[in-house]
Amino acid sequence: MQDLQSLETEITANLAGAADLDAVENIRIAELGKKGRVSLLMRELGKMTPEEKKEFGPKLNQLKNTLNDAVQSRKDSLETELLNKKLQSESVDITLSAAETDLGSIHPITQVMDEVTEIFTEMGFSVAEGPEIEEDFYNFTALNIPEEHPARQMHDTFYFPEDEEGNRKVLRTHTSPMQIRTMLAGEPPYRIIAPGRTYRNDSDATHTPMFHQVEALVIDKDIHMGHLKWCIEEFCKKFYERDDIKIRFRPSYFPFTEPSAEVDIGCAFEDGEILIGEGDDWLEIMGCGMVNERVLENVNLDPSEYQGFAFGLGLDRAAMLKWGIPDLRDFFAADLRWLKHYGFQALDIPSLSTRTSVVRGSK
Ligand code: DAH
Repeated sequence: MQDLQSLETEITANLAGAADLDAVENIRIAELGKKGRVSLLMRELGKMTPEEKKEFGPKLNQLKNTLNDAVQSRKDSLETELLNKKLQSESVDITLSAAETDLGSIHPITQVMDEVTEIFTEMGFSVAEGPEIEEDFYNFTALNIPEEHPARQMHDTFYFPEDEEGNRKVLRTHTSPMQIRTMLAGEPPYRIIAPGRTYRNDSDATHTPMFHQVEALVIDKDIHMGHLKWCIEEFCKKFYERDDIKIRFRPSYFPFTEPSAEVDIGCAFEDGEILIGEGDDWLEIMGCGMVNERVLENVNLDPSEYQGFAFGLGLDRAAMLKWGIPDLRDFFAADLRWLKHYGFQALDIPSLSTRTSVVRGSK
């Protein structure tokens, strides 16, 4: 029988010299595989006398175990080597300066919408959303603007082609149809705001064909004009960030409210700039009133039981005033330089006091 010791030395040396995992595997097969040298020796045990078996058996077993261990440990160390090489070649240099990325910002109109929504939701209003392609019924008729009513002409409406029944849909000209949708869908009391896009065929420095409004509606028992006034005053103070803001309710006419008023805020015009909260001039910011009994009847409410108020505020106008942006059309020109100047970072908490560079009207 071959000298087991020298066999072990030879194979262990081969393993130590194996350059990669394949080489180790080849050695394993050649020595420990079915027809390997060690396996053949094991087979020879069968032909031995019991004394020889007693002597060689344990030694052969020992050899087999040692070699198996040696194969495994060589494999392990080659794998570790491989991993280390990989880690080295794929390492990230965290000292490199980061690649520049373009940061987006929040459009001023979105910002105003969020702010207005926050102010009203804090007062207990919930937010209602509805379609921009609206039915004539919700946009006009149910709001007490029947066919041939002069107010229809005032709205410069974008109409869709008539359907087979002769009905035309419209791009909603205001957010007021959300009053009707809300009241037909639920049960009073209602306290909602409806911010969103609105459309009219009109374009100049203070009008764009698409613009934004927020509608508010409160319906309950015993609601009166005092509630309306308080609500609007609170909103203006919070939005324009001044407690001393001057507000005026000027009698007006809207078909869906009676009485109706327009709300002006006190301001000064100086060197082409508008200063909110100062001076003796007035600027119109919204329409409002007590919901017309006819509107309540159109949504099956009994006016002797339920009353309420509504108002509609132009959000683009509000943004122009708050940040002194002179031309409404710039909002929608998609000019990145302009948007970078007036836009807000996602984590900004904009406030007149922190945006001094573009503020008009804050002291
Ligand atoms: N819908 C009106 C407009 O677009 C604004 C308005 C006025 C809304 C009075 C109201 C309101 O809810 O009561 O001009």
